[in-house]
Amino acid sequence: MNKVHNFSAGPCILPQEVFEKSAEAILNFNGIGLSLLEISHRSKDFLAVMDEARAIVKRLMKLGDDYEILYLGGGASLQFLMVPFNLMKADGGKAAYLDTGVWAAGAIKEAKIVGNVEIVGSSKADNYSYIPKDYTVGSEYDYFHCTSNNTIYGTQMKTFPKVDTLMVCDMSSDIFSREIDFSQFDLIYAGAQKNMGPAGVTLVVVKKSILGKTGRTIPSYLNYQLHIDKESMFNTPPVFPVYASLLTLQHLEKNGGIAAAEARNIAKAKLLYDEIDRNPNFETFCKAEDRSLMNPSFKLTDESKKEAFDAAWKSAGLSGLNGHRSLGGYRASMYNAMPIESVQILVDVMQRLS
Ligand SMILES: Cc1ncc(COP(=O)(O)O)c(C=O)c1O
Repeated sequence: MNKVHNFSAGPCILPQEVFEKSAEAILNFNGIGLSLLEISHRSKDFLAVMDEARAIVKRLMKLGDDYEILYLGGGASLQFLMVPFNLMKADGGKAAYLDTGVWAAGAIKEAKIVGNVEIVGSSKADNYSYIPKDYTVGSEYDYFHCTSNNTIYGTQMKTFPKVDTLMVCDMSSDIFSREIDFSQFDLIYAGAQKNMGPAGVTLVVVKKSILGKTGRTIPSYLNYQLHIDKESMFNTPPVFPVYASLLTLQHLEKNGGIAAAEARNIAKAKLLYDEIDRNPNFETFCKAEDRSLMNPSFKLTDESKKEAFDAAWKSAGLSGLNGHRSLGGYRASMYNAMPIESVQILVDVMQRLS
């Protein structure tokens, strides 16, 4: 089979080693003669997976025992609701949100079901083409919520504001892609299906001391404290996505950790953005200073070249390059597992477009 260069925004490319070891585990897990899919989540073999999956996140993020690591179902979308349920005061609580895209707006929508939300910055009027920076967040808010990388628009927060309240961040599309001081956040969440593993599990990193302060009755599944007490085994966890996520993080750790991944991601992004800036056929949707390392989004300057460009990248074996339906154009998602060679093929195709 010819190599397919997978630029899909998620679910997306994962290391080949993860596919191979996952396949092996489905047939015969740990050599026990049983599939990973048919053993109890409370068996010793799976408990070891869950323990290590929680431990490796703390190691990679350099976080201490004041944080808990959870693997939950429901996607990042369920976190849009769990965050306000756990952090917004029952009596007159309010939260500050940064509106930087469709996913941030989704988080805002759910939070409004729970309590009061103030949007402290928004780039919606400019089709989310930049990250608002001119705002402050005071202690009158229960927490501040931001989205570190806007998967659809190709914008990324390069720095995070100092706020006078709890910091919550949706890192679904750039988790483990760059070195960040993770301890500046009180709660981080991410759907696994970009840099971390397959769809079906969501990572939550939460500082224990922030919980239990809202005066709110929280339904069981939505209650972080319950999941902490049960070590992510309140109900049957998504065993396969947890295992494949562990393999992905082990691969990252073995290959130099987040620092080395960041260096590779910077090199890939530079290769593509340099070509976009040099080539009069292409332009980005967003402000240069906010360009994402993960999801460069761009368009043709002359739409009449679309047919020729589309035919060229498809015949070069590139896949998943169409932009999100709400933006159009192209989006080259370049998560940790994408080799620079695939980006070079895209750049070669762009250079051949007359
Ligand atoms: C930044 C961001 N947040 C949230 C989501 C929603 O994630 P899920 O599909 O896991 O609910 C996505 C999905 O692409 C995303 O990119």
